[in-house]
Amino acid sequence: MQVLINEWTVKYGVQCWIKRDDLLHPLVSGNKWRKLKYNLEFVKRNHLAGIISFGGAYSNHVFALSAACHVSGIPLKLYIRGEAPHKSGFTLSKAIEHGASLHFVDRELYRQIRSGIAETISFPEDWLILPEGGSNLAGMKGLSEVPQELSFIPEHWVLAAGTGGSLCGLAQGGQSYSQFHGICVLKGKGMLDSFVHKSCPEIAESVTVHYDYHYGGYAKVSQELVEVINRYYHDHELILDPVYTAKAMLALEDLVRKEVIKSGERVVFIHTGGLQGLWGMQKKLEGLGLDKEIYERL
Ligand SMILES: Cc1ncc(COP(=O)(O)O)c(C=O)c1O
Repeated sequence: MQVLINEWTVKYGVQCWIKRDDLLHPLVSGNKWRKLKYNLEFVKRNHLAGIISFGGAYSNHVFALSAACHVSGIPLKLYIRGEAPHKSGFTLSKAIEHGASLHFVDRELYRQIRSGIAETISFPEDWLILPEGGSNLAGMKGLSEVPQELSFIPEHWVLAAGTGGSLCGLAQGGQSYSQFHGICVLKGKGMLDSFVHKSCPEIAESVTVHYDYHYGGYAKVSQELVEVINRYYHDHELILDPVYTAKAMLALEDLVRKEVIKSGERVVFIHTGGLQGLWGMQKKLEGLGLDKEIYERL
């Protein structure tokens, strides 16, 4: 845990820590490490033939899963949304290097496969079908272990949310005394609410999804996001990514400023990793003023 002390924690009197899950593993970091832990164990224990999963060409899940399967000797088939690129980017090149077999499918077929309604594709029974983002029950179980690693119970938790699996897993392992703030990185209102009510009904009252911090939508980069990444790098030696953690950090600052998180309260921000995603956006980010030194530290 890294203590975060800066101008706003002092001004508003909040105590803030960063749970550095980005440091869990060099390749399988953050929420991916947590989500994959019990899934890989399940495959090994049940002698399954391999894992089939899904994702986009820049997906942190695709990257981390391919690395984890490579290290664990588990065969991996990945269905990738969209056409095969002429030249693979960082994420897909690494997945290939890690031995995954890639199958590119158009967006409509991808949607059908993901929802389990594709008639043209059937999956063998002895492979684990791991949903996009690794957000199944075993994935959430991995996240539920996070609160036990703290020696205190904070009033607030803050983390980035995509599918909502990490948020719900965390809340399942926490106490209703805490508030769990998921910062939705996708544009739109309300899309994670039913997932929360279904996945952690017993603690749903303590979970809030915030929809106003998407900064233009999924994977959109902007000067504001680049500025926050530069600022945390210089002030706290902390590297954030523009797709998930920089948005969550801006949201945390705003929640403190708006006194949703109040003076005297404790808040834990989970760094959910995903820094590999920076490689696929280097030109764009440096064009917006990202400090080049950050790439030397990745
Ligand atoms: C770095 C990072 N943070 C947060 C999330 C959001 O996690 P979830 O999909 O469990 O909400 C993701 C999702 O892939 C991610 O890669």
